[in-house]
Amino acid sequence: MSIEFSNVYYVYSPKSPFEYEALKDINISLEQGKFIALVGRTGSGKSTLIQMINALLTPSKGEVKVDSFINSPDKKRRSKNISELRKKVGLVFQFPEYQLFEETVEKDVAFGPKNFGSKNEEALKIAHEALKKVGLDESFYARSPFELSGGEKRKVAIAGILALSPEVLIVDEPTAGLDPKAAEETMALFESIHQEGVSIILVTHDMNLVAEFADEAVVMENGKIVKHCKPEELFGDDLSAYSLENPHIFQFALDLQRKGLQIDPKNLKNVKDMASAIKRAKHV
Ligand SMILES: Nc1ncnc2c1ncn2[C@@H]1O[C@H](COP(=O)(O)OP(=O)(O)OP(=O)(O)O)[C@@H](O)[C@H]1O
Ligand SMILES: [Mg+2]
Repeated sequence: MSIEFSNVYYVYSPKSPFEYEALKDINISLEQGKFIALVGRTGSGKSTLIQMINALLTPSKGEVKVDSFINSPDKKRRSKNISELRKKVGLVFQFPEYQLFEETVEKDVAFGPKNFGSKNEEALKIAHEALKKVGLDESFYARSPFELSGGEKRKVAIAGILALSPEVLIVDEPTAGLDPKAAEETMALFESIHQEGVSIILVTHDMNLVAEFADEAVVMENGKIVKHCKPEELFGDDLSAYSLENPHIFQFALDLQRKGLQIDPKNLKNVKDMASAIKRAKHV
């Protein structure tokens, strides 16, 4: 699904003492099938922006088009079939406990498919498959989602979205607070979903993930988009201006280069790439 923002503004609590303009003149076009990283300092507007894509928020001005679906403040222009959009564009919140509500894990994950017409048994089958994908086994099926750890809750929330087979998967800081193994498994899951043709929009502060997984990076600052480019075009800039750091791999390669190793710090995605680059490199 193509996603297009045209002159989008968003104001929280308009005409109140708490009025706050969180998005300012956003214009961006995102193609289907890409792995996009959305980065930027705390409060820059990332979570606000992604909620426009599946119409959880409506722009105060401007409009967002997702294929033929229109999210606009103009009621006449705005598309009516919101639930169809939400099936295609799955969003996993920054705080997943907000999206869990059933008594048991399997009911929670089966809710979406049931809501879209699957019979109970079929919905449970889909739920079990989705839970397997996120690494939660049968022992979790009958547990209450509210009694799980933060990382487990997030897995249930992701399974609930996957159960709807979305075309776009938006995940808001999905690895924050996970142990390294769980974080790695979560990213591997997104990578495999991406390879099936699903667009991924990953909100993160972790530039290592941006280097390793993203096709494109979008940088937000103070409610605006300040960059939209390939990840490697970002690295080396003074990222601290956006409260971001270069990926460790990039920084390490840069140090090696300064010490005389012929190595290109760009286009290194992970430790494996780094090892091969060092093996190939010549001293100068
Ligand atoms: N419900 C709200 N009411 C008023 N202002 C809000 C509300 N939610 C967010 N804001 C403000 O809008 C701005 C953008 O918030 P947003 O949550 O989109 O930032 P973010 O980039 O996701 O930040 P983080 O990296 O901390 O998650 C912030 O300054 C925030 O204080
Ligand atoms: Mg956020």
